Parts: sequence; C-alpha cells; structure tokens
Amino acid sequence: MGRKFFVGGNWKCNGTTGEVKKIVNTLNEGQAPSQDVVEVVISPPFVFLPLVKESLRPDFHVAAQNCWVKKGGAFTGEVSAEMLVNLGIPWVVLGHSERRLLLNESNEFVGDKVAYALSQGLKVIACVGETLEQREAGSTMDVVAAQTNAIAERVSNWNDVVLAYEPVWAIGTGKVATPAQAQEVHSELRKWLGKNVNPEVATSTRIIYGGSVNGANCKELAAQPDVDGFLVGGASLKPEFIDIIKSAE
Ligand code: G3P
Repeated sequence: MGRKFFVGGNWKCNGTTGEVKKIVNTLNEGQAPSQDVVEVVISPPFVFLPLVKESLRPDFHVAAQNCWVKKGGAFTGEVSAEMLVNLGIPWVVLGHSERRLLLNESNEFVGDKVAYALSQGLKVIACVGETLEQREAGSTMDVVAAQTNAIAERVSNWNDVVLAYEPVWAIGTGKVATPAQAQEVHSELRKWLGKNVNPEVATSTRIIYGGSVNGANCKELAAQPDVDGFLVGGASLKPEFIDIIKSAE
C-alpha cells in the first residue's frame, strides 16, 4: 500500500518539567527505525511544547493535543492554530474522545477544527471512535462514519490528515481491541473513504489505532493490513514506546 507507518504518543494531561526531560532523554536514546520506515509524533501538554520541540531528537516530531476552531482573539484559555504554527509545531490532535465526551465537542465542531487547522498549515491527527454502549448496540460503523463524514464535508485535502480510530472502551482500560476488531473497523473506514471521498484518499490515508496499545500487543495489531500505526496514551510515557515504534519494521 506504500503508507508510511505512523506512531503518535499522546501524553494527555501528564508530566512535570523533570518528568518531561526524562521521557525526552529516553526517547532520544532509543533505537528507532529511520524516518523512511516510520513517522513519530509526540504530543505533550501545551505548556511543554517548546521544551519538547527544542530537546527532542530531530527525526521525531511534535503535536499539540488541541487547538481553537478559528483565528485567535477573545477566547480565554484557548490556543490558536496560528500560535502553534508560530511555535513551529507541525501537528495537532483533534477530536479526541476525551474532548468529545468531557467537553461536548460535536462532530461538526471537530470537523470545523480540522478544516481550520489544515487551512493554517497544520497536519492533523483526527480521532474517531465509539463507546462501549454504541458497540454493544451494533452502531460502531454508524458512529465512526458520522464522525468521519463531519470531517469529509469540510476537508478537501486529506494529504495532511491521519485518521485515528480509538474505541472509547479501549482507551485507558487495558482492554485493547483484538487485531480482528481493529482491522474490521479500519477496513470499513477505508471503504467509507473510497465511497464518500475518493479511491486515492482511501488508499493513501493512514488509519491508525489507539486504545491500550503496548509493547506486548503492538506487533499483532501492526500486522493487520489496514492498521497503519498507533496513537498511544499511557505506554507513550514509558520506555516501551520505543518497542511500539519498532513494530513498524
Ligand atoms: O490518544 C491515545 C489514547 O486515547 C489511548 O490511550 O492509554 O489507552 O493508550 P491509552
């Protein structure tokens, strides 16, 4: 398929300056495959973006965990896409389920954020995923298709979009999706892109999996034809994150 493997590390709301320096040192010392094989993007909290950007090895890149939906201004507490560009931060994670559920970010609001971030020159890791209740109700594809559709209705250039399928029931629970479960949804999402966007986007867009990925389960997941990488939470704060990056080989 020729899609470069992609591994994101979402640190979420974690870290102190000392801990961040230690994690970055561990990453800098790790033996990782070349950039030709895998694209690695680390996403610390906003307050550590400059520190991580300045100290991280040059073959790994940095993402913000969110950004505002329009040009900056009287939006207290928000961080604009322009600010990230000004800081030299190339990536942003948008639509994470923790923001959709805890901050009531709607599909349309996430779609608007993705479109605006892309318009400012940022590359986007766009997250979709269903809750356990939605899966048990047999609505998984309806949910992730609606989330993806809200992005597709607003985005014409998918070259700078990585789609992250993160089943909510697997996030932070230790209940990782089976390789078959992940492959099923990734394959259906790729078919959806082919039908509703175009075949080239379907073929070229990286669809990565997130939800309790660790050094022990990453290889089997990575072997699935439509799993193009990972968005890792808890394990991205640990030395095993290098093992997850190596699953690209
Ligand atoms: O964005 C990645 C995150 O939601 C996955 O978290 O801790 O289950 O790997 P975790």
